Amino acid sequence: MKDRFGREIDYIRVSVTDRCNFRCIYCMPEGGVMPKTCADILRFEEIARFLEAIVPLGISTVRITGGEPLVRKGIADFVRMVRRIPGVKDIAMTTNGSLLAGMAADLKSAGLNRVNISLDSLRPERFGRVTRGGDLKSVLKGIDAALENGLEPVKINCVVIKGFNDDEIMDFAKLTIERNLTVRFIELMPVGESKKARMNFVPAGRISRSLGGELEPVEYPEEGKGPAVYYRLPGAKGFIGFIAPMTRHFCAECNRVRLTSDGKLKVCLDSEEEFDVKAALRGGASGEDLRRIFTGALMRKPDGHRMNAVRFGKPGRTMCQIGG
Ligand code: GTP
Ligand code: 5AD
Ligand code: SF4
Repeated sequence: MKDRFGREIDYIRVSVTDRCNFRCIYCMPEGGVMPKTCADILRFEEIARFLEAIVPLGISTVRITGGEPLVRKGIADFVRMVRRIPGVKDIAMTTNGSLLAGMAADLKSAGLNRVNISLDSLRPERFGRVTRGGDLKSVLKGIDAALENGLEPVKINCVVIKGFNDDEIMDFAKLTIERNLTVRFIELMPVGESKKARMNFVPAGRISRSLGGELEPVEYPEEGKGPAVYYRLPGAKGFIGFIAPMTRHFCAECNRVRLTSDGKLKVCLDSEEEFDVKAALRGGASGEDLRRIFTGALMRKPDGHRMNAVRFGKPGRTMCQIGG
């Protein structure tokens, strides 16, 4: 269905937990987030009931996010539930990859189509620092498992932080030469932790220039309709993408809404307004009631975010509570 700016909304990002086994410096506070109780968090059956109600309005992609979605027990069963909803074509997940090696086969057979894996450094010591204790090897094994089990396209998300990992851009790009991997460089958005710590983004144009002007623009072989634009290094098997929320606002093509793990619908990353799906679900709302909440929320979707180098994101939730 269309919002009031004529944008076709066909993609929902569902955060299933705000917990994570890493604590990336730009995403999570050092002490973690206040843990939510089981009662705060939507049960998988509740999320599925909401999705069953709204998918017929035109949702075709469900992306499962976190925190880290793989730390929530029963996640493969949840994928199976979503797979059974008629109209859902594409089920994707954004994960830090560290638990993927042991779970990829199960997730694939449950019906997961593809994964995006967050990875901000290829140097073990630095990786440990950015994730506050993560083990790089576990993530590299997760990437292998994703490829072996056909959770494709496999995309690596690299958030580039000025003065921290911008000397690794070429190393990341080289990952695409021999393997069918897509590496995406992301401009850091000043929300939550990154805003507090005043970390700086690197403009996508500068990242691309640092790759030496060899990039060929390509039609990406996937109807993901996400915010990335894609290129290829000459002769490479994989692709390079750029997500530039700071220097190329893609809000005019935005196709998505978000459901937080505590059951609030968010219609824009940079909006404090939230719609209480949990209360409706627990108050006995019918499918029709849920669709009314959804369409009402969509009509409040703003034309876009206002973040830039001097104007930071609205206060409120951290990224790990929104799901990126
Ligand atoms: P696909 O294109 O479907 O593979 O997914 P995606 O790139 O939209 O999802 P992913 O979770 O991998 O997110 C990649 C980056 O895009 C993260 O930094 C997200 O925060 C950012 N992102 C995703 N959706 C939005 C959005 O609506 N607005 C903004 N500003 N950033 C977004
Ligand atoms: N800016 C850009 N991307 C971010 N992510 C988390 N925080 C930010 C931010 N401030 C990314 C993660 C993950 C995706 C869900 O969002 O690295 O890949
Ligand atoms: Fe966890 Fe992902 Fe946030 Fe890192 S970016 S702390 S891996 S949720």
